[in-house]
Amino acid sequence: MKAAVHTSYGHPDVVRVLDVDKPTIKGDEVLVRVHATTVNRTDCAFRAAKPFFTRFLTGLIGPRVTVLGGEFAGVVEAVGSGVTSFTVGDRVFGYSEGSWGAHAEYLSMPADGPLEAMPANVTFEEVAPSTEGSQYALSLIRAAKIQSGQDVLVYGATGAIGSAAVQLLRSLGANVTAVCDTDNVELVRGLGADRVIDYTAEDFTKDARRYDVVLDAAGKSSFGRCKRLLKPRGIYLSSDLGPLAQNPVLALTTPLLGGKKVMFPIPKMNDPQTVRSLAALIESGEFRPVIERRYPLDQIVEAYRYVETGQKIGNVVIVVEPST
Ligand SMILES: NC(=O)c1ccc[n+]([C@@H]2O[C@H](COP(=O)([O-])OP(=O)(O)OC[C@H]3O[C@@H](n4cnc5c(N)ncnc54)[C@H](OP(=O)(O)O)[C@@H]3O)[C@@H](O)[C@H]2O)c1
Repeated sequence: MKAAVHTSYGHPDVVRVLDVDKPTIKGDEVLVRVHATTVNRTDCAFRAAKPFFTRFLTGLIGPRVTVLGGEFAGVVEAVGSGVTSFTVGDRVFGYSEGSWGAHAEYLSMPADGPLEAMPANVTFEEVAPSTEGSQYALSLIRAAKIQSGQDVLVYGATGAIGSAAVQLLRSLGANVTAVCDTDNVELVRGLGADRVIDYTAEDFTKDARRYDVVLDAAGKSSFGRCKRLLKPRGIYLSSDLGPLAQNPVLALTTPLLGGKKVMFPIPKMNDPQTVRSLAALIESGEFRPVIERRYPLDQIVEAYRYVETGQKIGNVVIVVEPST
């Protein structure tokens, strides 16, 4: 089968599309014929081994896992002897962070892992990007216990995490103010934001409104800059370490002081329940991942280069098996 392989850490050019052995499956696994996957910021981090700690997960000197790719959608090609929850021909989607392997024509997955039947109202390419950014967004929203009627500002509303956060917050009934650039104001309004601030026209940190939560989904703001936007017990919630890697420390110290605080939650990865929740939100039409670009598997290096600009809008899909 064809797979995007990297045998050393480094720039996008370390990735080559090669012929490799098809994965074999154990009794409790299924073999998925991958139709669509994505390149996201997590793939970039593990391919480049930046930040350094990723080496503790995938190999100190060189990558133990040579085929990346966490998000996928495809068709079950074979099932292990003990699998009763899926049958050959089922259309499925899911998430394989940790074991990876979705940048390939075939992927093995535990049948009781983060793997779900595809909602009927989406294509492989539409559903493939629905388990990474959205999983982080959902985990941030749940950690901060955001509720209906709360006022939330989302900074970086056009990224994979931000564009999912706007939709998921809206479906919860929160009042969403989203920050993005001029070109994407209409897109973000279409995702359900009640109010949009164009950061090229005004400084969002000078906004007159006060928020229960400021969610930084771009990792480019700071608690210091956003503090005045928060209500007295407001939360600054971030998906990123922050410009000076300060968020983990602030998340430990600010709750001790009372009042406004920082949260930097560690998401629970590969949680089957999360993929189930996302499937329900897609089915009901409350969530639809934003897709900016599609590349064939043969051009995955170009996809990596683009994702690494940090300017993608929503998600970048890799088409492994074009839909007929
Ligand atoms: N906690 C975790 O485990 C985890 C996992 C994945 C990602 N992350 C981090 O979370 C952040 C977002 O991830 P993602 O996958 O959503 O990223 P992404 O899709 O690559 O985000 C790209 C978006 O960020 C916006 N952006 C970039 N710089 C900005 C700035 N200075 N101000 C406002 N918007 C800006 C861009 O909009 P413009 O074109 O308008 O600039 C673009 O739409 C990243 O920092 C990533 O490292 C954390």
